[in-house]
Amino acid sequence: MATKPTTSVPLAVDNVQALASNTTLKAIPPRYIRPQLSTDHENNHHQIPVIDLNKLTHQQFSPQEMAKFHQACQDWGFFQLVNHGVAEEEMIRDVSGFFELPLEAKRDGCSQDAARMEGYGQSFVFSEEQKLDWGDMLFLYTRPVLSRNLNHWPALPLSFRETVSNYSLEMERIKTLLLGMMAKNLGIDEEKFINMFSDGTQTMRMNYYPPCLEPSKVLGISPHSDATGLTILLQINEVNGLQIRHDGRWIPVQMLPKALLINIGDVLEIVSNGRYKSIEHRVVVNAEKERMSVATFHEMNRNVAIKPLSELVLEGEVEQYKSIHAEEFVKLLSSHRLDGKNLLDLMKLDK
Ligand code: OGA
Ligand code: NI
Repeated sequence: MATKPTTSVPLAVDNVQALASNTTLKAIPPRYIRPQLSTDHENNHHQIPVIDLNKLTHQQFSPQEMAKFHQACQDWGFFQLVNHGVAEEEMIRDVSGFFELPLEAKRDGCSQDAARMEGYGQSFVFSEEQKLDWGDMLFLYTRPVLSRNLNHWPALPLSFRETVSNYSLEMERIKTLLLGMMAKNLGIDEEKFINMFSDGTQTMRMNYYPPCLEPSKVLGISPHSDATGLTILLQINEVNGLQIRHDGRWIPVQMLPKALLINIGDVLEIVSNGRYKSIEHRVVVNAEKERMSVATFHEMNRNVAIKPLSELVLEGEVEQYKSIHAEEFVKLLSSHRLDGKNLLDLMKLDK
């Protein structure tokens, strides 16, 4: 049988919200400082694509919007979705309500669990040299419903659990709609494509980025691509900070009010044999204002092998990625965390 993977226990690091609110702090601790950080946040006139969900569905169907959607998945890997019909108010209220609680109340009952990384804490840290992110997070397993471990779900605000549960179902609805439309654009069987993701794990990463004395020297999240299928991001307050890699530059995302941000994850890039792109992104922080966001990740069904769909390997083309069983993929992911390699590079063939 396979040997047990050697994952070392993650190292404990400070709570960043508490660190940032320490008024005696005169300088940012060196472990957060990124010496090579380029501050090319300025004068980028690009705006990432905006897709109107109404125009992708039957009432106001527009072939132009479908083409724009396809293009966004191919060229950007990121787009803002408007007219999605998701009620965001409760999430905004309860997620901010949670992060506003005193530290002990936030930790009470939902501190991070090392095995599933579930609960309230920080991104995993495996070495003393690793640079630290300027942010805290609450990470939860939200679907399938049976995978929920309510011990890690905050009991306060009182409506938190119900709100997250409702929102989780809404995310499932949007995911399914988008996958169906992607299948149409890719010319593959819609139902089959949707089924590949049905009952897949859904997780939420709720991010809290405190203000920082020296914002140009730290990052809220290090550059990464999302290792899942599809990510749907909700910005909880009106503070921007996400930047995406496009044509070799970092493009700041200016979120439209009420929009959701969608991005293609590594698994969708693999399944589409590279037609759709999983794009590197990072988070910069603000001198005065805190920022909050909720990323909802959707994985493929655990019984489906992760590999390029044969329908998408056209005549004269080759598969660009290895095939990997879901369980192996999870293992690869944890080793990737350990040695800092890019997951997609490990999966790419012919390189
Ligand atoms: C993430 C992420 C971006 C943000 O959680 O994976 O990229 O804007 N978040 O918080
Ligand atoms: Ni991300």
